[in-house]
Amino acid sequence: MSNRENAPRNHQTETAKTTRRDVLAGTAAGIGLAAGALASASSAMAQSQTTGEYAGKTAFVTGAARGIGRACAEALAAGGANVVIFDIAEQIPDVPYPLATAEDLADTKAAIEAMGVGCISVQGDVRDFEAQKSAVDQAISEFGSLDFAIANAGITQIGALEGFDEAELSLVIDINLKGVIKTVQAATPIMREQGSGRMILMSSVTGRAGSANFPVYSATKWAVIGLAKSTALALGKSNVTCNAVCPTLVHTKLLDNDYILSSIVPGQSLTFEQFNEGAKGRHILPVGLYEPSRIGDCVRFLCGEGAALISGDVFDVGAGLNAQFPA
Ligand SMILES: NC(=O)c1ccc[n+]([C@@H]2O[C@H](COP(=O)([O-])OP(=O)(O)OC[C@H]3O[C@@H](n4cnc5c(N)ncnc54)[C@H](O)[C@@H]3O)[C@@H](O)[C@H]2O)c1
Repeated sequence: MSNRENAPRNHQTETAKTTRRDVLAGTAAGIGLAAGALASASSAMAQSQTTGEYAGKTAFVTGAARGIGRACAEALAAGGANVVIFDIAEQIPDVPYPLATAEDLADTKAAIEAMGVGCISVQGDVRDFEAQKSAVDQAISEFGSLDFAIANAGITQIGALEGFDEAELSLVIDINLKGVIKTVQAATPIMREQGSGRMILMSSVTGRAGSANFPVYSATKWAVIGLAKSTALALGKSNVTCNAVCPTLVHTKLLDNDYILSSIVPGQSLTFEQFNEGAKGRHILPVGLYEPSRIGDCVRFLCGEGAALISGDVFDVGAGLNAQFPA
């Protein structure tokens, strides 16, 4: 029996010294935007009254309808950035726990707009390159640049390695690895033309150490770190940075769901409180599952001037867990 069959089913099924004018001109030439799109971007910029370290900049965040993606989008919006939020916002039938909904996506958009910045929501699948390309093109046509690309969308899978069938392997690899590759592919031509940009790829503590419980998921997260380093090498001379962020145990619906709570300890179904106690025991610092805003804070730093020379690196928000790893 596959791990999926075992699981309960879910209920529904710069630092470049480039001016904004240069960015627009260079980007439009590079990606072939029509003059109308440029006019629209100029108009959106003229209306932008935001302040903050990211005022006038634009972020693209995948998996932003809820959880860590939403926290990253909100952290950058709090710094004044306009945001394009991208999320599938509907159930993928073979994912054994509920994904975000269209309401979640609309709610996130409203929360970001309430911060006084522009927000475009796009319902799309990171497995679809054209959908991601169209979304980053909207960032340019509406806001005039693409400064930050946060490749965050992902799903989890728990169970013994031998229990995953072909479809389950493809699903997690297509979303967690190929989906992130497609985000990088969509953002690369724009950032290269701009001569600036920050990419942040969401990995995991399971991308830093092996995981018996999450073996295929862990493999995708190790791969994301390889992709971050390769992207940093490929785009460094274009003044584009790329780093990976590794959360440990974050309180989101990726972990707080029946599928995970009933599988994390064989033969036992945990309450969230029991799971959280276990997380407290695992973390070195005195915290259980922590809030996604902690990852938003890290991403906000990595997009800032203080991180201008950090690229090809891996940032663990590990609550001390990494103190146990070799240097
Ligand atoms: N929660 C944790 O403890 C934890 C730990 C380490 C790493 N991560 C990683 O952080 C990222 C975000 O996780 P989260 O905890 O916020 O999970 P989450 O399930 O709350 O959010 C993930 C979001 O991605 C969206 N999504 C899923 N598949 C998609 C697809 N094919 N196309 C577009 N959108 C899609 C979902 O709808 C959801 O809104 C993931 O990559 C995850 O692997 C999470």
